[in-house]
Amino acid sequence: MTAPLIDPFARAITYLRVSVTDRCDFRCVYCMSETMTFLPKKELLTLEELDRMCSSFVTMGVKKLRITGGEPLVRRGIMTFFRSMTRHLDSGALSELTLTTNGSQLEKYAQDLFDAGVRRINISMDTIDEKKFAEITRWGRLPQVMRGIDAAQKAGLKIKINAVALKGFNEDELPTITEWCASRGMDLTWIEVMPMGDLGNEDRVGQYWSLKDVRKAYDDHYQVSDLAESTGGPARYVRLEQTGQKIGFITPMSHNFCESCNRVRLTCTGELYTCLGQEGMQDLRPAMRQSPDSDEALEQAIRAAIGLKPKGHDFDYSRQRADGQMSRHMSHTGG
Ligand code: GTP
Ligand code: 5AD
Ligand code: SF4
Repeated sequence: MTAPLIDPFARAITYLRVSVTDRCDFRCVYCMSETMTFLPKKELLTLEELDRMCSSFVTMGVKKLRITGGEPLVRRGIMTFFRSMTRHLDSGALSELTLTTNGSQLEKYAQDLFDAGVRRINISMDTIDEKKFAEITRWGRLPQVMRGIDAAQKAGLKIKINAVALKGFNEDELPTITEWCASRGMDLTWIEVMPMGDLGNEDRVGQYWSLKDVRKAYDDHYQVSDLAESTGGPARYVRLEQTGQKIGFITPMSHNFCESCNRVRLTCTGELYTCLGQEGMQDLRPAMRQSPDSDEALEQAIRAAIGLKPKGHDFDYSRQRADGQMSRHMSHTGG
């Protein structure tokens, strides 16, 4: 292994999120517009290039690899890529291979994922009401995702549900979602909605439900204890004494967690974003393509990009929408 990746603020980079496609079979209203246009497929990194990029990061000390999108499981051939990463788990270089998915394709892929070494997955689900689910995803079908959850649990995958906290949408479902997750042995993480992607008719300021209020709602209904443990991601966790489950809080808006950031993001076209909330990125493709037989230039380019990682993000709802909103999509950068 080469020297570990340390950024200018002495943070070790051990977590790589990889968006393998910008496509998705849903169109969640806070993520994409209904008429979203996707990149031409020829612009995507090939599966072999994805392998080269990820393997270089693993050589440089990345321990956790999270595959995202768009919806990662709609990328053709994606299981070949997962299986190619198994060798890094087997060698001990990688501690965790995981994904964040909308669950729509899990019925088909759950067993293959487990066989490739995946043990824990995050599923994005903002409501357990079938009608509301179709509304927020624009056309997603909840029973299909439920079958995916069944298949994943049957295959032995541990599941965490991610719900974006949305004012006036899932506020009233806090106890139902929590108890449904508990009944299935699943942890739950709430995420504050971030000002990214197309706005269309969406009003992100109006949608914003601070997790300070979510936490208060838990305190009002449950016996809650703070936990010091981390999954290596941005969530802070509590345990609900009544149900025994963990509830996570991802608070990019109300409580910035950048000082402990260990993550960078690789897009489906080979750009490295060193911060979700900043526009700066480095294109790693030229360095990778210049020498097909050696990863030296690629590793140098990765190290140089990490050397530019900013201190933190600057999302801000208090500013005007025109400069507070980022047009970049989460699906391109991988959440
Ligand atoms: P665990 O491994 O379970 O801790 O997962 P994770 O939280 O690292 O990954 P997940 O894909 O579940 O992340 C959930 C969401 O958190 C992402 O989709 C983003 O919306 C948000 N998020 C993750 N990392 C960052 C970050 O560095 N900055 C900001 N602003 N948001 C982030
Ligand atoms: N704000 C917060 N989270 C978002 N996601 C997508 N768009 C946004 C946004 N604007 C989350 C999804 C899913 C992951 C892929 O990114 O809910 O958990
Ligand atoms: Fe697809 Fe996830 Fe975006 Fe929803 S949030 S449209 S499931 S990528």
